[in-house]
Amino acid sequence: MMVAIALVIIISAYSFTSRYNTTAKSAQQPKPSSQVIAQIKTSDTDSLPSQLGHFPYAEANTSQLIIIASYAQNEYQRFERLAPEAALALMKLIYAARDDGVWIVPVSGFRDLASQDKLFKKQIEKRGSVAEAAKLSAPPGYSEHHTGYALDLSDGNIPKKDITYELVNTPAFQWLIRRGKDFGFEMSFPENNPQGVSYEPWHWRFIGSPAAIKIFKRAKS
Ligand code: DAL
Ligand code: ZN
Repeated sequence: MMVAIALVIIISAYSFTSRYNTTAKSAQQPKPSSQVIAQIKTSDTDSLPSQLGHFPYAEANTSQLIIIASYAQNEYQRFERLAPEAALALMKLIYAARDDGVWIVPVSGFRDLASQDKLFKKQIEKRGSVAEAAKLSAPPGYSEHHTGYALDLSDGNIPKKDITYELVNTPAFQWLIRRGKDFGFEMSFPENNPQGVSYEPWHWRFIGSPAAIKIFKRAKS
């Protein structure tokens, strides 16, 4: 298990644009992240500015996360982790859904800065600019997935609808809309959310503990 420290990224407007050039071509040759990201050993992100609609989030201490599921596609497999209180609430949610005949499956939980960086770069290549990428994905340091209190959910009976808008037509999504809040979960990016981030019906955050409420205070205000 990796030794973990809480890291916060400060990305100034200057470093942000110099790291992620706004053309798809230059996004294929990103500069090493160490050149442009200052990492500080604090979990206090309150004073850091938001970027393109996303709020800064410290990376969770991975030694405190617990495994909630494994996710596999063909031969690829990874283990998904969440903060303990979010994980326990999720287990209760999953079992309650099963009692109603609905199969809710975690697809992606905690993400470190490096994996978010890879995802964001892929999104820049796909969309052609940082601004367009940021509508669909968070820059590293600004993803709710860093916190250990947010995750992507899917319908286990309809895996092809993972991370697609077709999820909204599944029993899992309809159950989450109805009952998610009873277990402390809410959709982070509903349609027309004030952050201007694309609708993400699969992305849910836990707000059922004092620590979780504190982390998402800015996003909810
Ligand atoms: N997928 C959302 C934007 C996040 O990572 O916070
Ligand atoms: Zn997500």
